[in-house]
Amino acid sequence: MRVLGIESSCDETGVAVYDDELGLMSHELFTQIKVHAEYGGVVPELASRDHIRMCLELIEKALKSASSTKDDIDAVCYTAGPGLVGALMVGATVARSLAYAWNVPAVPVNHMEGHLLAPMLEEEKPEFPYLALLVSGGHTMIIDVAAPGSYKIIGQSVDDAAGEAFDKTAKLLGIAYPGGPLLSKIAQQGEKDKYKFPRPMSDSPNYDFSFSGLKTFASNTIAEHKNELDEQTKADIARAFEEAVVDTLKIKVKKALKKLKYKNLVIAGGVSANLTLRKNMQELMTSIGGKVFYPRISFCTDNGAMIAYAGMFRFKRGERADLGVDVLPRWPLDTLN
Ligand code: KG4
Ligand code: ZN
Repeated sequence: MRVLGIESSCDETGVAVYDDELGLMSHELFTQIKVHAEYGGVVPELASRDHIRMCLELIEKALKSASSTKDDIDAVCYTAGPGLVGALMVGATVARSLAYAWNVPAVPVNHMEGHLLAPMLEEEKPEFPYLALLVSGGHTMIIDVAAPGSYKIIGQSVDDAAGEAFDKTAKLLGIAYPGGPLLSKIAQQGEKDKYKFPRPMSDSPNYDFSFSGLKTFASNTIAEHKNELDEQTKADIARAFEEAVVDTLKIKVKKALKKLKYKNLVIAGGVSANLTLRKNMQELMTSIGGKVFYPRISFCTDNGAMIAYAGMFRFKRGERADLGVDVLPRWPLDTLN
């Protein structure tokens, strides 16, 4: 069986073709970063318009590079939430219309489940059960994944998501949107322990996070150095911030692994592209005789491949969208079980 997957929940239009025997056959991506950069963040209306502009072109490309035609496609899968309502509506409308025209089912996919299952697209796949750290621009969660489709959120951020904290701190440092990846690059030039940021909620008995205080801490540190904010100082602050986020994530993940006695860890979502995070999680898992799994860098951030994969999983379970075009801007993962 072969499915088409369409992602349009935020600022990336992604399309992919996935076959349950041959694996991932093609994937196409268009990032809207340039469209939103001058506004310092995603402008929902512009995002929707750009998805409209790019969607069909990417679908044609993905089919062609998978040497497939509409006749090879058994279902059209699309991100139905969570995300920006207008952006989601574009993907949902295109997917629903194509499915109707091609006389195949349309399958709604939860974007976060897409991230969570993205490591399954790699050669080395994690075995169930595993603990997942899902860190993106909108979410930071620790999830107990007992089996595909069985998700229990055991901890999450009570305020900013990790990616959001990266982006906001980057903005304070004068780094263009989306600042996360660039802040991380600058941090490599920073001096270790030049500044000491707090590890929020690390002493709390739960598995929750709070990242908004780190952004405030960064803001105060920047204000203290406003007359001498040279490149080195920026790099030092970036490094201290990144280490605080990574360390905080590590503390809670370690605690959750201990409780669940799991030896497999998956990290997914945009922030899982962060090399310091990967290195730290690798060290943690080695120290407990476990293993860490993550998607290739290009499948950490939003993409169509993860939606096609999760869509195939849901399609095989018999899940179908009805003829209406419905999207769910909020769609908690643990309601999927
Ligand atoms: O998963 P994603 O593409 O979109 C959402 O579903 O939110 O995640 C985007 C987030 C942004 O906040 C971005 O700054 C962050 O992931 N990100 C990074 C890195 N690459 C992407 N943050 C830190 N270091 C990176 N290398
Ligand atoms: Zn995402």
